[in-house]
Amino acid sequence: MKPKGPFYGRSVSVVHDLTADEQWYLYRKTAEIKAAVLEGRDLSAYRFGDTELSVYLIFLEDSTRTKESFRNAAVFHQATVSVFDAAHSSFNKKESLTDTLKMLVGYSRRSIFIIRSTVEGVTRALEVTIGDYCRKAGIAPPSFLNAGDGKHEHPSQEFLDEYSFLEKKNWNRDSIHIALTGDLYFGRTVHSKADGLKIFKEVRVDLVAPSELGLPDFYRQRMIDNGFILRTFPSIDAYLAQGEVADLWYFTRLQLERMGEDVLDKVGRLKHAVTVRPDHLDKLPLGTKFYHPLPQNRTEPTIPDFVTPLDLNGWDEQSRNGYFTRITLIGMVAGCLGFDFTGKLKVHEHPADDFVETGRINPHGKHTEYKTGIKPVDDGIVIDHIGMGRSVEQIWKLLDKIRRNLQLNYLASMGVFSSVKSDVVKGLISIPDLPELGFKKVKKLAALSPGCTLNLVRSKHVIQKYRLHMPPRIYNFAEIGCRNENCVSHAKQHEGISPEFERRGEGFVCRFCERPHTYDDIWTD
Ligand code: NCD
Repeated sequence: MKPKGPFYGRSVSVVHDLTADEQWYLYRKTAEIKAAVLEGRDLSAYRFGDTELSVYLIFLEDSTRTKESFRNAAVFHQATVSVFDAAHSSFNKKESLTDTLKMLVGYSRRSIFIIRSTVEGVTRALEVTIGDYCRKAGIAPPSFLNAGDGKHEHPSQEFLDEYSFLEKKNWNRDSIHIALTGDLYFGRTVHSKADGLKIFKEVRVDLVAPSELGLPDFYRQRMIDNGFILRTFPSIDAYLAQGEVADLWYFTRLQLERMGEDVLDKVGRLKHAVTVRPDHLDKLPLGTKFYHPLPQNRTEPTIPDFVTPLDLNGWDEQSRNGYFTRITLIGMVAGCLGFDFTGKLKVHEHPADDFVETGRINPHGKHTEYKTGIKPVDDGIVIDHIGMGRSVEQIWKLLDKIRRNLQLNYLASMGVFSSVKSDVVKGLISIPDLPELGFKKVKKLAALSPGCTLNLVRSKHVIQKYRLHMPPRIYNFAEIGCRNENCVSHAKQHEGISPEFERRGEGFVCRFCERPHTYDDIWTD
């Protein structure tokens, strides 16, 4: 049995699945491997060197560089490499990815799946479902590497991009000033920059794109939260008309295949705004480099052919770096690299279930409040302060939703009242003779009506009072769903993944595709 390094068995769905220290390790190790390869040195210390490792490439979207560099990196490790023939597989018979992978994991002692799909959040979902399946079946859970999921993220591309920027900057991480131009809306390689650029201490990002191709608010906010300084320009012309131009430019292709008719109609104008012209060149700072994840559209490239032979060309070397960074990434998760890692390892935080708070009760008092217009409860439960601050109509709707979702089909009463202490209206449900609600229902209640109180009444006394807060995670409910139709958890995808949301600031994000949702958005019912 081979020794297993600290990254053994890990999956990478998004950039922040690796901590900054882990990313830095990947970059330093890549530099070592690249030098050893180019100098023709002995490479045995870097390779897995055993066919018991199976690497599957499952590409459900077109690819040249990502697929070939991953395939060659797997060959470097002397792994058994399978390029899954997605076009002629049972995917055409509408088989789910989960069922396909359940079969593939059984063939090897250790597998790594590299997946590209239009479906967002797919590797995260498989990490959960196939991970559970393997643990039950006594098979080693595989690693999943996201090779680009829809317009979400492309972490392995991000690692080679950052590696290339570090080479340009002679490994100085103090600061970076970068212009991101092209399709910032659909470009997943740009989205991954919101976390990838954190490798630098001071980050200035200039977003150069017409509004139709602008960076989605979610990533813009994430960049701001990460302390980046942002500026926005509608075109390369507008950007070059001001004094502070970056010496590092990152171009992206217009993702025509993902655009709707409304945007496609304007493609000519949009492309013009982000295409380089000869008269732009003398406005660039000395030593400027252009990067591009490629491919370029050969009939209408945004970096035209006249730039290719110039020193501005950083993209050819960047593209070569894909091979080296992916050798390192596969080696890390296969467990043969990482023994010399020092720093902070990723800990998967599972937010504490901090949604129930025990309230103060009056030891002498009988809760007269619960007599108002409603049958007094001698023994049972009373849910109070439902929908406080909302309108009477909204509270009635909420009461109805709570009753249906919690299946409170008891002899009970409910109503909307004005609070004793203020004019604010609130909803109230009293259920005589029900001793308690049970954990699952309490959690659901907290998710449906954060801020409400749950009172346990015995012999006309409130013996226990709980104030319920918005849970940090909302999951396991039939009535929630991600609004993104391309998300792996969306009913339309038929992958059987139950939706899950994590609280982020004021709202929630989908655990799989990270689409932001307001609290009301997550409920389908
Ligand atoms: C990118 C991708 O697939 O997201 N290409 C790549 O992986 N090298 C960019 C693109 O398709 O435009």
